[in-house]
Amino acid sequence: MTDISVATAPLDVARVRADFPILRRTVNGHPLVYLDSAATSQKPQSVLDATDAYYQEHNANVHRGVHTLGNEATDVFESARQRVARFIDAPAEGVVFLRNTTEALNLVASSYARELLSPGDRIVLTEMEHHSNLVPWQLAAERAGLTLDFLSVHDDGALDLSNLDELLAPPTKLISLSHQSNVLGTVAPLRDIVAAAHQHDVLVCVDAAQSVPHMPVSVRDLDCDFLAFSGHKMCGPMGAGVLWARPELLERMPPFLGGGSMILRVSLERSSWSTVPHKFEAGTPDVGAATGLAAACDYLDAIGRDRIHTHELELTGHLLAVLEEVDGVEVYGPRTLDDRGGAVSFNVSGVHAHDVGTILDREGVAVRAGHHCCQPLMKRLDVAATARASVYLYNTHEEIDALGAALGEVRRIFG
Ligand code: ALA
Repeated sequence: MTDISVATAPLDVARVRADFPILRRTVNGHPLVYLDSAATSQKPQSVLDATDAYYQEHNANVHRGVHTLGNEATDVFESARQRVARFIDAPAEGVVFLRNTTEALNLVASSYARELLSPGDRIVLTEMEHHSNLVPWQLAAERAGLTLDFLSVHDDGALDLSNLDELLAPPTKLISLSHQSNVLGTVAPLRDIVAAAHQHDVLVCVDAAQSVPHMPVSVRDLDCDFLAFSGHKMCGPMGAGVLWARPELLERMPPFLGGGSMILRVSLERSSWSTVPHKFEAGTPDVGAATGLAAACDYLDAIGRDRIHTHELELTGHLLAVLEEVDGVEVYGPRTLDDRGGAVSFNVSGVHAHDVGTILDREGVAVRAGHHCCQPLMKRLDVAATARASVYLYNTHEEIDALGAALGEVRRIFG
């Protein structure tokens, strides 16, 4: 019988931290306090070992070899696809391996929106999108005569859904939005949005870069049509990105890039395409990164994403409380833990976010500062930039306290 007390036990953070070699280092004479996991996560030893083992024991090109190593490399790569599919509870033939979320969203904007939509069709986005979920649609709109419209953001960081039905009405064909904002931490009510969209026969594309690493995400349950995420934000290597798409959509979409591996037959004049998802994987793939991503799926599932999510919410509650105590700090986004994740943006009054980030770094605390690839959202918030602290499974309450103390140093320096 499953031991429920073990399944729901809190995260053993000391044990988790021991899995991450980089967390042993110091920065500027201080223990590293890494609060920038929304930009990229650190990697556990098991992921580093899996990538090394691929190169040390199996390395060869995939889908080509008649030799043993070629077959092993192909098995490793295709097993990684199955593993990733299980991680997001989705059919494996919809998993396309790419470099990152940006490439995945560009694929959908190019091969679906630009190629299969008609002039006058509308795509709906939100005001809080990362440039990766904005610029590709702008390019597609310009080239295919599509229009763009936007859900706006309330002052508290929640999406304004009051005109959702109106925006989903014809001529809208697709809505693309982030599951969790990389700036505000806002979690979108995706199930409701997907249900509303499908009532209007509108497809839903989810930028899940900030959700898949942090909480259980089931494609079957969300019922979305496209879902994009990056391995490097979920303890995997850089260069392992994923697009999941309904296989029947991938069948209809023309290729994104042409070259080796994605063809069935080629003559001098024309070509035909391989089956999905291979049709979208031109050239030699990053098998080492895919292997590391599969190991990251194993690592996170062994701990449990529900447990990771609970731990992050506790940290976020503490983070919001600590920020509230620092004089002159303004927090952007939801102040409660309802419908939010562990990315928290803030400013210290009278101090540029880059100066905040630089002083925190002197104290060993790593945060991101800038527009976070969200210039329209910065405009909505009426700021040039913010500092952002973001937590993950290896962070501790003591590290949040270290951020609070380092912000005290910012206040002391800037009076
Ligand atoms: N999109 C990543 C971030 O928000 C890089 O930091």
